[in-house]
Amino acid sequence: MDMLIQVQDLSKIYNPGENEVRALDHVSLEIDRGEFVAIIGHSGSGKSTLMNMLGCLDVPTSGQYYLNGQDVSVLTDNELSDIRNREIGFIFQGFNLIANLTAIENVELPLIYRGIGKRQRHELAVEALNLVGLSHRMDHKPSQMSGGQQQRVAIARAVAAKPPVILADEPTGNLDSKSSADILKMLKELHRTGRTVILITHDNDIAAQVKRVIRIKDGYVEADYFNKSEECVENEKAE
Ligand SMILES: Nc1ncnc2c1ncn2[C@@H]1O[C@H](COP(=O)(O)OP(=O)(O)OP(=O)(O)O)[C@@H](O)[C@H]1O
Ligand SMILES: [Mg+2]
Repeated sequence: MDMLIQVQDLSKIYNPGENEVRALDHVSLEIDRGEFVAIIGHSGSGKSTLMNMLGCLDVPTSGQYYLNGQDVSVLTDNELSDIRNREIGFIFQGFNLIANLTAIENVELPLIYRGIGKRQRHELAVEALNLVGLSHRMDHKPSQMSGGQQQRVAIARAVAAKPPVILADEPTGNLDSKSSADILKMLKELHRTGRTVILITHDNDIAAQVKRVIRIKDGYVEADYFNKSEECVENEKAE
C-alpha cells in the first residue's frame, strides 16, 4: 500500500517557557492510504493536537510530517490550505455548522472555496445529504435539527467534495448510542468506498470495531495494534 502519512519524532509544545504543555511528545507513526484508524486516549492526552497536525491546521514545534511523501513544513500557508481543501474532509466534535444557513447551504459552503461551480455544488451537496439520510431536512437550519442530524450535516459537508482523507474528531461524542452507531456505519461505508478514515474517539466500543487502533497517552503513542475482535472480523468478511 502507499504511504499517506509519515510522522517522525513529532512534538508540540504549547506556551513554551514557564507554563509549557508538552501536548505531543516525540510521536512517530505511519498510516497507509485506505486505512481506517481509530485514535484513542484519555481526555488531554493529545488526540486533537495530533489531528490538528495531521490536518495541517497547526504546525509542530519539532519533528517531521510527510503527507503523500511531501514535507509539510516547507509549504506556504496557501499551499497548506490547498492541500486541506483538496485532500481532507474534517468532522469536528462541535459540528461547527453555521447557524443561519440551511443544511444544504452549510454543505455547499466549502465547495465554494474549492472553486466548484453553482450547479455542481448543488448536485454534490444533495448527493452528500442523501448519503447521510437527510434529504428530507435540506432546508432546515441547525436549530431545527437534532444533534445527530446536525452531526450528519457536518459529515455531509466533510464528504461532499469526495476528499480522499476523512479526519473525524469525536464525531459521536455528543450523540446517543443509536446515532453513534449510524455515524460509525457511515464512516465504515466511506472507508469501504476507498477513503482513508482517521477517527478520534473516547469510546472503546467504537474503537473495537475499527481495524487499527493507535492509543495516545500523555502525548506519546502508548500502543498501536490491529483489532481481531469479532465485529472487525465480521466487517472484513462483509467487504
Ligand atoms: N491551545 C492550547 N494552549 C495550551 N495548551 C493546550 C492548547 N490546546 C491543548 N492544550 C493542552 O494540550 C494537551 C492535549 O490537548 P488535546 O486537546 O490534544 O487533548 P485531547 O486528547 O484531544 O483531549 P479531549 O479528549 O478532552 O478532547 C492538554 O493538556 C491541553 O490542556
Ligand atoms: Mg480533543
